[in-house]
Amino acid sequence: MIRLLSVVGARPQIIKAAALSRAIRQHFSDTFNDCILHTGQHYDQNMSQIFFDELNIPQPDINLGVGSDTHGRQTAGMIEGIEKILLELSPDFVILYGDTNSTLAGALAAAKLGIDVIHIEAGLRSFNKKMPEEINRIACDHVSTLLFSPTLTGINNLVREGFSRQSNPPYTIDNPAIFHCGDVMYDNSLYFSALAESRSGILAMHKLVPGHYILGTIHRDSNTDDPSRLTSIFEAFQAIAEMHKITIFLPLHPRTKKLLKKNLPESLLTAIQKNSAIKIVEPVSFLDMILLEKNARLIITDSGGVQKEAYFFKKPSIVLRPQTEWTEIIENGAAILADTDGSKIKNAFEYFENQITNNFPPVFGDGNAANFICEKIIETYNYKNTQKK
Ligand code: UD1
Ligand code: UDP
Repeated sequence: MIRLLSVVGARPQIIKAAALSRAIRQHFSDTFNDCILHTGQHYDQNMSQIFFDELNIPQPDINLGVGSDTHGRQTAGMIEGIEKILLELSPDFVILYGDTNSTLAGALAAAKLGIDVIHIEAGLRSFNKKMPEEINRIACDHVSTLLFSPTLTGINNLVREGFSRQSNPPYTIDNPAIFHCGDVMYDNSLYFSALAESRSGILAMHKLVPGHYILGTIHRDSNTDDPSRLTSIFEAFQAIAEMHKITIFLPLHPRTKKLLKKNLPESLLTAIQKNSAIKIVEPVSFLDMILLEKNARLIITDSGGVQKEAYFFKKPSIVLRPQTEWTEIIENGAAILADTDGSKIKNAFEYFENQITNNFPPVFGDGNAANFICEKIIETYNYKNTQKK
């Protein structure tokens, strides 16, 4: 058996882990023993446990329970906890997803112990090192042995940073391999789409009419923690809801919910609370989220994952960031980068209202990224073991 240790911690990583865990269950259960370590970075029921239950992911074998803290303390707590488990279990590979502090901690702990790191979602770059995620991604990529990039842009970024497209096995931290494999989140969107239709009652519960609401998410620290940026976003929401008589449905990340009171002017906060067209709710489950995305008129978000899901479900989106790692979505005209500029957000909405957006070429793979990843891990493992004999 190949012994994997998968590290998850934040909501999107748990969702991404569902794809690999499904591939293992369906096709490779005799080959892999996958131990799941949850750092505890996200811990609310609707930010963590709900996804294990709903997406049929095995319960984590270990939960470090680090919780929320400053970057340094949170990451340090994770490194300490992960290192201890790695010393006990000595897995063949550590699997890491995305770009959160849990990713960084797993990368540092494993690489220092000489355990091969597999990075899923490698090569993505915003070229903005003010984002904590950009630092996490770069650090993780550069201590990884197998780097799986969802897009060609990601592969090109890695090549620019010195990774070779032509490395030969045996792969090591000093001779890593890069693979263009498609997006495990696309695997998930395809797989869970029909299930969302049959199981989610979110539209009826909130009286949302398909095609007649905007779905929005906000959680990026640069938006939530800066009063002027957060105010600009919510002023734009107010204006769009009023001018276009459309509902804006916002399942808000707990970070954002906590900061609304602190960072919005009291008058704006009161106006939003009184505006029945702006519906702020708790974070929703993944199946609910998929149904919301599939039936939205348009999506406004600063989330990496939600931007892509908008594209998977052929919905135009407005991205509340100055740049994105998912450049293909912008290049194909399916999303507009509005950052937090109120007039850009409003103009983008009006543009999409008057424009049929139907350019969604398949740039995120074919829905089989997780199977491809499993096959490459097996090849790498077998090659190393043959060499040893
Ligand atoms: C983290 C990731 C970000 C990712 C996001 C996905 C880092 C640096 N950031 O951001 O890349 O896009 O997860 O959602 O790793 N909180 C709760 N309950 C929870 C979790 C968080 O109330 O279950 C609140 C706490 O007040 C906490 C704040 O949210 O301080 C931020 O949580 P944290 O995990 O530090 O960062 P995210 O903003 O969630
Ligand atoms: N998501 C969810 N419920 C919500 C909001 C988001 O299930 O209330 C899902 C979303 O569909 C996507 C993932 O969470 O798959 C994105 O996570 P998030 O926006 O927290 O982080 P990011 O992708 O920006 O790192």
